[in-house]
Amino acid sequence: MMKKPAPMPVIFDTDPGIDDAMALYLLAHHPALELRAITTVFGNAGVDVTSRNGQLLAALFDQQVPVAKGAAGPLHVDAEREFSVHVHGDDGLGGMAAMIDAEVPALDARPASQLICDMVNAEPGAITLIAVGPLTNLALALRHDPGIAAKVHRVIVMGGAFGTQARCGNVTPVAEANIINDPEAADLVFSADWPVVIVGLDVTHETVMTESYLSNLQGRGAGVGVCVGDFLWQATRHYQDFYQSVDGINGVYAHDASAIVYAIEPAAFTLRAGPVRVVTEGIARGQTIQDFRKPSGAVTPWSGCPAQQVCIAVRPERVLAIFDQAFDAS
Ligand code: BDR
Ligand code: CA
Repeated sequence: MMKKPAPMPVIFDTDPGIDDAMALYLLAHHPALELRAITTVFGNAGVDVTSRNGQLLAALFDQQVPVAKGAAGPLHVDAEREFSVHVHGDDGLGGMAAMIDAEVPALDARPASQLICDMVNAEPGAITLIAVGPLTNLALALRHDPGIAAKVHRVIVMGGAFGTQARCGNVTPVAEANIINDPEAADLVFSADWPVVIVGLDVTHETVMTESYLSNLQGRGAGVGVCVGDFLWQATRHYQDFYQSVDGINGVYAHDASAIVYAIEPAAFTLRAGPVRVVTEGIARGQTIQDFRKPSGAVTPWSGCPAQQVCIAVRPERVLAIFDQAFDAS
């Protein structure tokens, strides 16, 4: 009999966030992955709120892993934006954080970027970083110890938009939320010499978790103190109202969960290779641009940057099936 491959060790860098919570549940429960730590960042709410949510979700999903608090704002503080409370609610969890009735673990004493460096250095070549918020913690980790780039197995990012199927931006016409929250950090992370896969709006907008799909989670998924499916159904009510009002969809996009599905089943996605840069000035601030042309010899701002992988197509039925199956396993 073929031996099953060992689960992939993952540090989850996140700004929970309703879709972050969904992604974390899948990551924590899929046998192909092994959650090693949660690192938090500002984004969907302030970092105190997202960190508290990281602690609450670790408790709800029964994960005994370190939770380390990260950046409170972008690398360039003068570039600060408002938090997305209109999307994820004041508590970042659609007003449902109080449903979680479990003893929360204490925060790790280290800042998130330090924890990332420590864990990567302890196991060179092993750790996959999955980042589904602004990329500030990853950029700080690279600044602190550039040597980690050669020791990370892979970086998977939910963020950006590259124009496939006219998917270009959700905060401005050309900028996606995680990237515009810290464009300088994103540019640093995409230009670093480590393998990055970018799961942007090009593919996340292809997978809609409809109201009936979400409703079907109710009563499923064991959690500490409350059923996970019941919690996610309640938490997505606010999130769904937001997407109904802006895009007229009767459901929510599978943003952050798509990054986890990529880690589990990369064959569900089509990739395109080429260096990626982020616009950091002017009205296109936060725009992500990949140079996927054949090299012509001309020197451009993309020259010398490593080829990264951008997801340009997805099989949405696989994302939906893999997420749903995580509720049968418990
Ligand atoms: C991304 O922004 C956040 O609001 C979501 O959690 C997701 O990571 C989508 O643009
Ligand atoms: Ca997120």
